[in-house]
Amino acid sequence: MTLRFGHSLRARLLAWLLIATMVMGVVALLDTWFDAVKTAQTVSDRVLVGSALAIAERVVVGENGALEVDIPYVALEMLTSAAQDRVFYRVDGPPGSFITGYQTLPVVTLQGGQASAFADDSFRGEPIRVVTLQRSASTGIRSVPFLVTVAETTIARQQLSQTILLRSALRLLLMIVGAGAGVWIAVSVSLHPLNRLGQAIAQRSPDDLSPIEEAAPSEVEGLVTTVNSFMVRLEGALNALRQFAGNTSHQLRTPLAVVRTQLALAQRARSLDEALDSVRKGDQSVARAERILMQMLTLARLDATATRGQQRNGAMDLTLKAQEVTADHVPTATEAGIDLGFEGESEVLVHAEPLLIEELLRNLIENAIAYAGPGAIVTVRSLRDATVARLEVEDDGPGIPPERRGAMFSRFTRGDWPKASGTGLGLPIVEEIAALYGASVTLGDGEAGKGLKVIVTFRLADPATAG
Ligand SMILES: Nc1ncnc2c1ncn2[C@@H]1O[C@H](COP(=O)(O)OP(=O)(O)O)[C@@H](O)[C@H]1O
Ligand SMILES: [Mg+2]
Repeated sequence: MTLRFGHSLRARLLAWLLIATMVMGVVALLDTWFDAVKTAQTVSDRVLVGSALAIAERVVVGENGALEVDIPYVALEMLTSAAQDRVFYRVDGPPGSFITGYQTLPVVTLQGGQASAFADDSFRGEPIRVVTLQRSASTGIRSVPFLVTVAETTIARQQLSQTILLRSALRLLLMIVGAGAGVWIAVSVSLHPLNRLGQAIAQRSPDDLSPIEEAAPSEVEGLVTTVNSFMVRLEGALNALRQFAGNTSHQLRTPLAVVRTQLALAQRARSLDEALDSVRKGDQSVARAERILMQMLTLARLDATATRGQQRNGAMDLTLKAQEVTADHVPTATEAGIDLGFEGESEVLVHAEPLLIEELLRNLIENAIAYAGPGAIVTVRSLRDATVARLEVEDDGPGIPPERRGAMFSRFTRGDWPKASGTGLGLPIVEEIAALYGASVTLGDGEAGKGLKVIVTFRLADPATAG
């Protein structure tokens, strides 16, 4: 099994738990060790001093005035019985006079006034614990001081402290394993609702975008809410797409049907002229279908851009662009008997994408040429005042009745006398492009209440940021 700390919550929790308990465990064990050594020391020292006292009891002043001792071996066996420890002793009389026992055994030096003292030392190459007692034996007339020293090797006390340590280490290990298992189980159980949630989503059909209803732990409620609101938006986008696709096929059906009819007519034509006439009509229909597709594509691209929010573009000159697009349309306008002109001198800076502004202008100018009628005057203007920039396309044709103007911004909506080439997507495209830059589009009356004047109002670009 490999632990992937980056991905598994369970492994991560477990790792943290183990690290934390391990650190605490080491601290606890160290503390236990010192404690165990101290406990073993205290217990064994008490026995050690006991046997020294038992020996001291037996020290008497002999008839010749010298000290005599009758070693009580039972007292020493008390010590050896515990482990393989060995016991040594010595008895010394007044300074310098060794009485009995191991003469090379180290004696603990008693500091002034002390009656007994312990020390760790070594004897014959083995570590030992030594106690030295000071007592005196009295004859009634005088008292003779003497020292009793008892030592034992430290095997028993080491074993005792090791046993204490081992037991607490085992207890700790058991606790860690128990806590680990607890976390493992707790996480598995807690993750259960998430798995259920995942399964529920996995089992859905691709077009089921209804909100997730499964109960979720409070920690992931935020995630579920986000997913739900995302699905709502997705559903909206999908519906718009479906409607759009439906509209597109509906719009394309008409020109394609015309093409078919014209082809059939051409097949049955009795003269070349008749056939050529059908071909020309069919060709016009194909052109119409092509235009519908182009506008659809433009709208689809605009929709995609719009979902990314307001655009940040460098500054561009509206005057220059409007002049350019107007000039491009002069030939078509002339052909339609329309006087197309431009007004505007100074630079008008706005933040926008030049190609899209061109598309916007083209739609407005083409509308004016198409609907104003022969003999009309169409004027394109770029203006600015203190805070806003304005782009205007004005004609003196029939215009659009005020109550119908709002509706023209809906996709596929057209006027009462639609020209064959229209799709009803021009004004919606204009409005969407404007919206990308926070600009607004209004339809108003032309000069003298005649015709149509389309006004696109932009925020002025700060000249300092002009690119
Ligand atoms: N300059 C105009 N003068 C009169 N009517 C207009 C003008 N511009 C647009 N319209 C009306 O608005 C409708 C919608 O225009 P538009 O969205 O560009 O679609 P389309 O031009 O494909 O019909 C047109 O069908 C037309 O009736
Ligand atoms: Mg149009």
